Amino acid sequence: MDVNDIKTIGVAGCGLMGAGIVETCARAGYSVVVREINDGLLQKGLSRIKGSMAKGVEKGKLAQADMDAAMARIKGTLNMADFKDCDLVIEAAIENMQLKKTIFTELDSICRPDVILASNTSSLCVTEMAAATERPDKVFGLHFFNPVPVMPLLEIVRALLTSDETLEIGKALGEKLGKTVVVAKDRPGFIANLLFIPYALDTIRWLDSGLATKEEIDTAMKLGFNHPMGPLTLCDFVGLDTLLFIADAMYDEFKDPRYAAPPLLRRMVQAGLLGRKSGRGFYNYSK
Ligand code: 3HC
Repeated sequence: MDVNDIKTIGVAGCGLMGAGIVETCARAGYSVVVREINDGLLQKGLSRIKGSMAKGVEKGKLAQADMDAAMARIKGTLNMADFKDCDLVIEAAIENMQLKKTIFTELDSICRPDVILASNTSSLCVTEMAAATERPDKVFGLHFFNPVPVMPLLEIVRALLTSDETLEIGKALGEKLGKTVVVAKDRPGFIANLLFIPYALDTIRWLDSGLATKEEIDTAMKLGFNHPMGPLTLCDFVGLDTLLFIADAMYDEFKDPRYAAPPLLRRMVQAGLLGRKSGRGFYNYSK
């Protein structure tokens, strides 16, 4: 298998990340098969893709004809068997190891033996997912960043048994998708989240201790370091449940207090304050 043999990409899951991955692949010229577990979620994901591309057109980043062509390359399905002609499949389901392993085992039985299977997990062990297949040398992590069509980074996670050949195809594919690729070992958080999560957790600890207001903390990091968003705005953007999940996975693995979630974060998640997605996190988005 060569990167140029990849013509059709499968994406298992059309939530926030899955939709962004589908859009990015379709805009790069790939045919895409995207699968969701029910029609409601599939239609929601497809409208998200359409809305995001329309924004690209509105901002002058994408011609209307290219949007139409990209939309025409996307095929939605509820059936895993429709991945059978895909040349690479990216799993973008919810962060649940048991579910991901089931998906990998199923993909392994549906897809040709030369097909690479990837996971967009942000913190779970890719080596464990690979072990659920008969092709662990052809499995890696492809960790995209939100919003996927805009963020230029792609982390490739090299699992313990990922082959050099698979890795090279991944790097070449990343470039074809217009991303800058970095390769990381299979450790929770990889590179970007490994460094971001302790920063986010520290910010929440300092907010809780009364160092400054949330606005002052965000302003300091935005204007002092030219970050597009302050850390608490970014936590809301990522989702506090996602942040907590990644922190817990990192703490589980490393047992280092740097990754221990502060009580305020856990309480906010327990109270349903998940950030933008729920309408309220550190900030209120209900309007
Ligand atoms: N297609 C193409 N381009 C698009 C687009 C689309 N669908 N939507 C927006 N754009 C372009 C815009 O034209 C603009 O480009 P320009 O700078 O050349 O004008 C740029 O993207 C920014 O878009 P907007 O003007 O709509 O929005 P903002 O300027 O407010 O930026 C943001 C929004 C990109 C989200 C910015 O605030 C940002 O970069 N925030 C940080 C995001 C971040 O850190 N993400 C990572 C989260 S962590 C993660 O995902 C990992 C996980 O494991 C937790």
